[in-house]
Formats: sequence, structure tokens, C-alpha cells
Amino acid sequence: MSTVPTQGAPRPDAPEQVHDQPVVLELEDLAMHYGPVRAVDGVSLQIRRGQVTALVGESGSGKSTVGRCIVRLVEPTAGAVRLAGADVTHLSRGQMRQHRRDVSIVFQDPAGSLDPRMLVGDVIAEPLRLQGSRLSRQERSQRVSDGLRRVGLRPEVAKRYPHELSGGQRQRVSIARALMSEPTLLVADEPTSALDVSVQASVLNLLADLQRDIGFACLFITHDLSAVEYLADDIAVMYLGQLVEQGTREEIFAHPRHPYTQALLAAAPVADPAKQRARTPVLLGDDLPSAMDPPSGCRFHTRCPVAVPRCAEEVPTLRKVGGATVACHLVEDDGTGPDIRSAAGTVEAAGTAAPAATAPETATTTGRPA
Ligand SMILES: Nc1ncnc2c1ncn2[C@@H]1O[C@H](COP(=O)(O)OP(=O)(O)OP(=O)(O)O)[C@@H](O)[C@H]1O
Ligand code: SF4
Ligand SMILES: [Mg+2]
Repeated sequence: MSTVPTQGAPRPDAPEQVHDQPVVLELEDLAMHYGPVRAVDGVSLQIRRGQVTALVGESGSGKSTVGRCIVRLVEPTAGAVRLAGADVTHLSRGQMRQHRRDVSIVFQDPAGSLDPRMLVGDVIAEPLRLQGSRLSRQERSQRVSDGLRRVGLRPEVAKRYPHELSGGQRQRVSIARALMSEPTLLVADEPTSALDVSVQASVLNLLADLQRDIGFACLFITHDLSAVEYLADDIAVMYLGQLVEQGTREEIFAHPRHPYTQALLAAAPVADPAKQRARTPVLLGDDLPSAMDPPSGCRFHTRCPVAVPRCAEEVPTLRKVGGATVACHLVEDDGTGPDIRSAAGTVEAAGTAAPAATAPETATTTGRPA
């Protein structure tokens, strides 16, 4: 896991208006199965204009697959993807061209996502060409220079090849390219996790600044909760192909209600070294179960330290609790529920103040290290 960014200010709490803006992206019961692998299995989510939603969860939970369905690099197995109200789940070639303008993606690894044979200027101008923009050579060159400046690179970089740049510079080029078509939605899939720790913060801050200036909606995919603070208004937590909890960043950080969210937060690195040292991390123990054969009932029950017999039998539905939506049988309507950090005998995760632990009497610890 990468470290906490050391530059820039955390994103201010989302102004109320963000949640009143029109919906840009809507996922309804989205599913993507690769043969028997149920990578995404019924995800519903909305992102509004100017809103950044972080999609978090451990490796293999299906985050990138959600992103690929949105950008339509893959065609979903079931459910719907809507962009500004229009169904984009299944698209013709012509419609796909428009979709590529409206939605861009930045991948984790800029070395792999930039064509090594193309000059940076051509890489950045490619979205313009694909759009069929009829620009003069001079106009095109101007757009490329503007695009590079916008991401903090000098226009001369246009004449270089991607391999001549540093990892951070290459990712800036990817971002410049992604924004060239002025998309309404940007999917950023772990945009900094392949970068040197020393440049992660600056790329993250660049993205945050661009998002604030331009106001595009953004799905920010990450397994790094510390990065969320710098970029996201909302957090959606994914476990084995499904969402288990969603809410504003403030709400999720202050009151993580789902045991899996609590475990993720407790495992995130903390900026203050004293707090970090004072903390006993809550470990989830076993690996993520196979997406080919997900556990019955609550998919988290095989690893949940507070699971009760009902959890293996009954699927918990996502329901509104306080300012969030949560899928856990043991979370009460008033928002109280289990706290696996106290259940596991660990100290409270720094920076989070969970509601009082009121694990029901029926709760049993599984005896596995939690
Ligand atoms: N093309 C594919 N064919 C078969 N299975 C796939 C394919 N792509 C992903 N999967 C499987 O789907 C599940 C979800 O993968 P995905 O890459 O979406 O997870 P992720 O949350 O992005 O993980 P990471 O944090 O490692 O990037 C995993 O079990 C993965 O092995
Ligand atoms: S208590 Fe039960 S329903 Fe809640 S997360 Fe644990 S296993 Fe799932
Ligand atoms: Mg991924």
C-alpha cells in the first residue's frame, strides 16, 4: 500500500450542492461475469456533476472491472450503465465514438498505456483525431501545448517519446490525453499506485486541482484509503463484486459501519507516526474468497469477526442508515452496530471515531485472528 500524500491540502468537505447536481453516471445492478468469474455482481451507483467518488476495496474485489464497464472496454453481462440519462450499456460503433469523448480513463501504469512508438504530442492529439476534429496544424499544436501546460509539463515535451520521460511525467501525459476530449466523466484507475512514492502526491494533487478547475465527475479507483482524503467527496466500498457500504467521505471516515469498511480503515496507513505506532492493525486473515464461488449469504461472512449464523444464510441488502447505505445484518436502523476493532481487542483506528460498539449478544467471534 502506498503512503499518505505529504503535499497539498485534503479536499474540503463536499459542499451540499454537489449532491444536488444532475446525475452524470448511473450504474444499475451492473454485472460483469468472465465465464464463471463473477467479477462484478450487482453494483448500483450514481455520480453527479463535479463529484468524485472513490471506489475502494482490496485487490480482486472488482473495482477495475466496474471502471472497464463504464468506459465500455468490456460489455457488461447484465444491468445498465447510463451517462447523463442515456443508456450506454450496449453501443454501436458510432455511438462508441461519442462515448469515448464523454468518458476517459487513466490507467495505473502509464508505461503500459502509452504507445512507445508515438511522440507525446501525437499521443495527446490522438483523441482530437479520433473525434474527427478538423484542426489546422497550428491549432492542433496549440491544443497539445495547452494540454501539456495544464498538467504542468513544458510544451517541448511534445517532441519526446514516452520512454524518455519519468513515470510521473508519463502519467501527466496520460492525464493530459484523457482530458483532451473534455470528458464529462473521468475514470482514474489507481492513477498513482505504479509511481514512485515521491511523485505520487504531486500527481494526486494535480488530479485534484484539475478536477476542481474543470469540474468533471470522477470515479477514483483505489485500494489506498489515505489517497481518498485528497480527492473524493464520496466513498463506495466494494467486496467480492458487490458494494457493501457507501456514503460521503466524512460519514464513512467518521462512522464506518460495515465490518469490512472498518477493517479497511484500520489497515490504512496514518500520517501521524505516533498514532501509527500506537495502533494494532486489524487483519482480515484469510485471502479474498474466489469470485467463481462466492460465499453464501453475506459474502464477507467467512472473514467477518462478528458474523452470526444468519450471515451465512441470508444476503444482507444495502439500506439507508444515517448518512450512508450499508449491507450488514448487524447494523441497526439507528446506525449502531458491531465494531470489529473493539470486537477483535484492538485499539481504535486513528482519525476515526466509530459509533459505540453494540454487537448483539448473538454475535460470536470466529476464533480466527481478526
Ligand atoms: N479478463 C478477465 N478474465 C477473467 N477474470 C478476470 C478478468 N479480469 C478480471 N478478472 C477477475 O475478476 C475479479 C475482479 O478483478 P478486478 O481487476 O476488477 O479487481 P480489482 O478490484 O481492480 O483488483 P486490483 O486492486 O488488483 O486492481 C478478479 O477475480 C479477477 O481475477
Ligand atoms: S456481521 Fe454478518 S452481515 Fe454483517 S458484515 Fe459480518 S458477516 Fe456480513
Ligand atoms: Mg484494478
